Amino acid sequence: MNPKLKLTLSSTALVASISILLSYNILAPPAVPGSHHLHNAKTIQLNSAFGPESLAFDPNGDGPYSGVADGRILKWQGDAVGWTDFAFTSSHREDCVLPFAPEMEHICGRPLGLRFDKKTGDLYIADAYFGLQVVGPAGGLATQIITEAEGQPLYFTNDMDIDELDDVIYFTDTSTSFRRRQFLPSIFTKDKTGRLLKYNKSSEEVTVLLRGLAFANGVALSKDSSFVLVAETTTCRILRLWLRGPNAGNVEVFSELPGFPDNIRRNMKGEFWVALHAKKGLVAKLALSYSLFGNTFLKLPLSFKQLHSLFIGGKPHAIAVKLSENGEILEVLEDTEGKAMRFISEVEEKDGKLWIGSVMMPFVGIYHL
Ligand SMILES: *[C@@H]1O[C@H](CO)[C@@H](O)[C@H](O)[C@H]1NC(C)=O
Repeated sequence: MNPKLKLTLSSTALVASISILLSYNILAPPAVPGSHHLHNAKTIQLNSAFGPESLAFDPNGDGPYSGVADGRILKWQGDAVGWTDFAFTSSHREDCVLPFAPEMEHICGRPLGLRFDKKTGDLYIADAYFGLQVVGPAGGLATQIITEAEGQPLYFTNDMDIDELDDVIYFTDTSTSFRRRQFLPSIFTKDKTGRLLKYNKSSEEVTVLLRGLAFANGVALSKDSSFVLVAETTTCRILRLWLRGPNAGNVEVFSELPGFPDNIRRNMKGEFWVALHAKKGLVAKLALSYSLFGNTFLKLPLSFKQLHSLFIGGKPHAIAVKLSENGEILEVLEDTEGKAMRFISEVEEKDGKLWIGSVMMPFVGIYHL
């Protein structure tokens, strides 16, 4: 048989078998024992917008604010007013009309991690394509602060946390070879070009603290700023870098998770909520254990949706974990059927409620604790 035809036939057969497995939920990862229900979360729909990745409340407690897929940052003003435009990270917005257009992200911007500076009320923004930015309390067009480190452009800025005592921002650049819209190839090929960086506001200096990370993602400081956590999505781990004390400079595994961590947010008690994009199912395990599988999946004639479905094990679901200050899992929340929430990206605890963002859904979730 013609080798090209043979390859086409065998990849078609493989795609067909995978589709069957996915449709029967054979590949769906099981519920984590002892997990609590997240499926009764309430949702607040966005108005012609998609993918509220990160959520932040301003120093007055207003909001949340959230960056969406068309490059805007929206503000929630309560049921009566709804969502209003607050800020944007690109001035070239003429063609940014679709709620979701990944091919436009490098023009329209894609704001991810958001954090307010509580002293000034300034909003810091990690834009996947435009680096670290800041906008004042009145909103509008954000200003670029950092676009490179050690001569290497920021290629996929993702999340940050602010140490207000030291006036320092810790932030991640997920990859120096894959852009945000290529996040699946970045994971399937186990790309290890992610970095954790530090920006000193007074000296305006940028330093690389950790490099060689496999999809550097969420960032959170401990309550006393003695350490900073960074999510390494591809390895399903949270790493801890000590900043102060006898271990300063040491890095260690803080927590191993049942899925792929996105943003990390600390609550008032000093515990950490970690949103997982999805659990690690059979296909993801195969792809990440044997690079042959990972590379084969990428070569199959699959759409983004099909490849993503494969990655998550077929059935959309949501999972979040709460970690203690020492990295133990204290609580697991799951929506195993994806009834209310799917592919969550951040969990922000405020006044007895969890506000939940999702990078691939057109709504924000609220869960009463
Ligand atoms: C930030 O830079 C200033 C000025 O160079 C320096 O005095 C300070 O120690 C730096 N802070 C940190 C946390 O690195």
